[in-house]
Amino acid sequence: MAFSELRKKIRALLKEKNGILLAHYYQRDEVQEIADFTGDSLALSFEAAKTKADVIVFAGVHFMAESASILSPDKTVLLPRFEAGCALADTITVEALEAEKKKYPAAAVVTYINSSAAIKAASDICCTSANAVRIVESLTDAKRILMIPDGNLARYTAKFTGKEIIPWGGTCPVHQNLSPDEVLAAKARHPGAKFAAHPECREAVLELADFVGSTSGIIAYAGKMEGSELIFGTEMGILYQLQTRYPGKTFIPASEKMICETMKLTTLEDILRALTVMAPAVKVPEAIRNPAKRCLDRMLEVG
Ligand code: 13P
Ligand code: SF4
Repeated sequence: MAFSELRKKIRALLKEKNGILLAHYYQRDEVQEIADFTGDSLALSFEAAKTKADVIVFAGVHFMAESASILSPDKTVLLPRFEAGCALADTITVEALEAEKKKYPAAAVVTYINSSAAIKAASDICCTSANAVRIVESLTDAKRILMIPDGNLARYTAKFTGKEIIPWGGTCPVHQNLSPDEVLAAKARHPGAKFAAHPECREAVLELADFVGSTSGIIAYAGKMEGSELIFGTEMGILYQLQTRYPGKTFIPASEKMICETMKLTTLEDILRALTVMAPAVKVPEAIRNPAKRCLDRMLEVG
C-alpha cells in the first residue's frame, strides 16, 4: 500500500477510536512523520500520562508501552510489534537487583526508564537520560545510589553530583559500540563540526563531545550551536528530526552502524494492523503497576 493510503487509513482509525500515535525519535522516518507526538523517553512519558485519548499506539519498544500502561491504566496501549524489546533493559533481572540491594541496604535505587515494569516496581525512583542529574540531586537524604541498568549513564551522572553512585554494568549495544576512533575519524573528515553524544555512549566517547544529552537535548543543541555542522553519537533515527527542523545545517552520523533494530521493527503496516485488530496490547498487572507507578510518578514530580 502506498504511503499516502497507509497514512489516511491510520489517521482515520485513530480518529474513530480516539487514539493517539506516540513515536520515539529512533523510529523509522515515516512513522515519525505521521505520529501525533514524537519525543524522547521523558517527553513521551509526560504525554502518555496526560493524554485524553482512549487508545495509545506506542511506536517504540516494550518498556515504553509498559510505562504508558502504568501511567494510564484505563487506556488501551498498543505496541504494534510486541517483540520490540530493549537490549539494555534486558541486562538486569529482579533477582539480580534484589541481590544488589542486599549488598547496599541503605542505597536508594535510581532506575533508568529503559527497564521492565518489574524492575521499576523494585526501585525507588525512575530517571531518563534527560533528567538523571536532577533526579539524583532530588534524593537529598540518600548518600549512596544504586543506578541501574546503564553503567555509562550512571558514571556520567556521577560527575555532576556529590553522591556516591554504584553503577550496574548494563549497556545499550547501539551506543556502547561507538568507538572513540570512529568519532575521531568523523572529526577529521569534518574539522569544523561540533560533536554531540548520548550519555549511553562510553566514557572515552563522551570525553570527545562538545555536548552530552538525551535525544531531545541533542536536537535542542543542534538548533542553538555555533556553526552549521554537527556529528551526532546516537541512533540514526534522530537524523529525521535534525534534518526536518534545521534544513540549513549538516548532520553527520558518528557511525552509520548506530541502528537499534528493535526500534526499527515497527512499520506503518504494523500500526495499521494493530489499530484494526486492537492488538497486541500491553497491560501491566496491578501488583506490579502500583509500585512501578510510584517510581515513575516520583520522577514526573521532579520533571
Ligand atoms: P532518550 O533520549 O529518549 O532517553 O533515548 C534513549 C534511548 O535509548 C531510548 O531507547
Ligand atoms: Fe534499548 Fe539501546 Fe535500543 Fe534504546 S537504542 S531501545 S537503549 S537497545
